[in-house]
Order: sequence, then C-alpha cells, then structure tokens
Amino acid sequence: MAVGKRVGDAMILSIESSCDDSSIAITEIATKKLIYHKKISQELEHSQYGGVVPELASRLHAVALPAILSECEPWFNELKAIAVTNEPGLGVTLIEGVVMAKALSVALNIPILPINHLKGHIYSLFIEKESQFPLTVLLVSGGHTQLIEVRSYSDMETVATTMDDSYGESFDKVAKMMKLGYPGGPLIERLAHSGDASKLSFTVPLWQSPLIAFSYSGLKNQVRLAVETVSYEEYPDIAAAFQKTATDHLIQKLKKYFKTKPPLRFAIVGGASANLYLRSQVQQMLTVYKAPLLLAPLEYCSDNAAMIGRCSLEAYSLNLYVNHTDVAINPRCKL
Ligand code: KG4
Ligand code: ZN
Repeated sequence: MAVGKRVGDAMILSIESSCDDSSIAITEIATKKLIYHKKISQELEHSQYGGVVPELASRLHAVALPAILSECEPWFNELKAIAVTNEPGLGVTLIEGVVMAKALSVALNIPILPINHLKGHIYSLFIEKESQFPLTVLLVSGGHTQLIEVRSYSDMETVATTMDDSYGESFDKVAKMMKLGYPGGPLIERLAHSGDASKLSFTVPLWQSPLIAFSYSGLKNQVRLAVETVSYEEYPDIAAAFQKTATDHLIQKLKKYFKTKPPLRFAIVGGASANLYLRSQVQQMLTVYKAPLLLAPLEYCSDNAAMIGRCSLEAYSLNLYVNHTDVAINPRCKL
C-alpha cells in the first residue's frame, strides 16, 4: 500500500455505454462515496434524427470513453475491480464499454463486475447512501416500463411490463411527430406547461382491461392523428393531453396492482422519472397508502455511471466478479 493511503481507499471504476451516454465513475468501496463522475451525452448528435442511431452512438462512445478515462488515471493504483454495464441495451454501444473494461482488467490485473443496467437505475436511488428494501419500483426509461418488486440485489421480480413501447419512448415518438427534437421527454414536458390538457381527450390505454401491463402504441397513434389534424398553435394542448393520458395509464395500473399488494415504500427510477408531472401524480396517489416515495436526484435519473458504480458495490460484496474472458453482452436481457 502506498505511503499515506488510508485503508478504505479501494475503489471501483464503472463504465456505462448502454445507449447514448458515455459515462465513467469512480466509487470508494468502504464509504460508498462517489469520488469521480463524468458523462458525455450524445443528445445533440442524435437530435436531427429524432432518436438514437446505434452505429453513430457506438462511434461517439469510441471517442468519448477514452477521453473520460484519461482523467481517471490518478486512481488506477487504487482500483479493485472494473464494473461495466453489459445488459440490456444496444449491442453496438454496450460493446464499447465492455471492450474498455476488458482492456483495463488485463492491464491492471483486476476482475470485472458485469452490471445489469436496470439494477443500476434502481441503485441510482442510493448513491452515497444505504439501500432500503423491500421496495416497489416503477422503472420508466426509453427502453423500459416495468413494475419491479425489489427484495435485495439478487432478488428482483418484474411484476408488470409494457406490451409495446415504453413510457419514455412514447414521449420521444410524440416529440418526433411534432419535429421538436430528441430526447422527447423534457421537450414534451416543457411544451405541456403552456398547454391545456382538457382541450383534447385521448383514451387511456388498457383502461378496461384486467391486465396489469402497460401499452403506449395505441396512444401514440391517437396523438399522431391529432398532430395531423390540428394547427401548430395547438401542439402544447396535445403535449399536455398526451402527458396526462400516458401518466394516468401508469397511475391506473399501479392502483390496480396495489389492491392486491399495497406498497411499503415506492420508487420511480429511469430517465423519465425526471418528469415532474409523473412525480406529483405518484406522490398524490401514495398518500392513501402512507408509503414514502423514493426518487433519485434529477442528475442521476437518466443513464450515468454513478448508478452503475453504486450498484457494483453490491456485486463486489457478493463476490460476483468475472474474468475478462467471461463477460457476456446481453442486449435484450431484463433483470
Ligand atoms: O434511462 P434513460 O436515460 O435511458 C434508457 O435507459 O432508456 O431514459 C431516457 C428516456 C428517454 O426516452 C427520454 O425522453 C425520457 O427518458 N425522459 C423523459 C423525461 N426526461 C427524460 N420522459 C418524460 N419526461 C421527462 N422529463
Ligand atoms: Zn437507462
């Protein structure tokens, strides 16, 4: 051990590249403290296409990740493992992070902790603090809409999922219809502020169905028809009505689920958990159950390596390391 180093200086370097954010974090193992975190988003580059172009994302990661990594060299001697998102995500972007993790693993002679991106989002709630379980989690991102019962790091059960598009993806698609850019979530949320949701009425998806599942493709088509038939000045009203209906759908299914399993504590995670309308509606619903609502700080809702780092501390304590030759990439894996 280097002179002057405290016991507890051992750290994990974490890499996230599952979609369009290149991010690296360094987390101290003993204290769970986030020592370093940087993220380079590709939103501008993908904006002109109205969505993420996988091959372009992959090439941008190949430039951004080494640039961020060069800032991490001062901590290389303290690293005990490299954590990397290996599932789920875009195959061509996951591989950029995984190849970097493998190279670091060989060069520094330390193992790899493969991390599930969805678990990472759940641990975004506990960056620099202790986890709290059991927990019912609504994960809303660009790729997923899932209701998850979380009992521990290794015991997570998906109890409801989407039948087609995800909540965040539907915002992206509606923004694309209105030619607003990408990512659509914040753009639609902002537009909705100046709109009147009562001016249009969209049908809440699956409202008559006994299924506890989510669906956004029908709502997307209702919005498409509205966009095609109204004038540009009415876009804020469409945005407000869409956001309300998309969120009412989540609330309706959550209430149905809670009839059989009321929540002890509840969390919303994922990029779309930054939506303030969604946050307020869920908060209001939870008062009946007296369940606290856990939320990640806004800066850690969308993809980032800080959450992968926090998640990797659990994997590290459970000795879930693998050799650099044994990291599988699973683009479609769930939990
Ligand atoms: O978790 P994330 O960064 O990436 C995935 O794992 O998919 O989530 C990105 C998604 C995008 O679809 C984006 O439009 C959505 O989260 N999003 C929002 C908001 N901010 C981001 N959706 C609704 N309202 C927002 N304020
Ligand atoms: Zn994500």
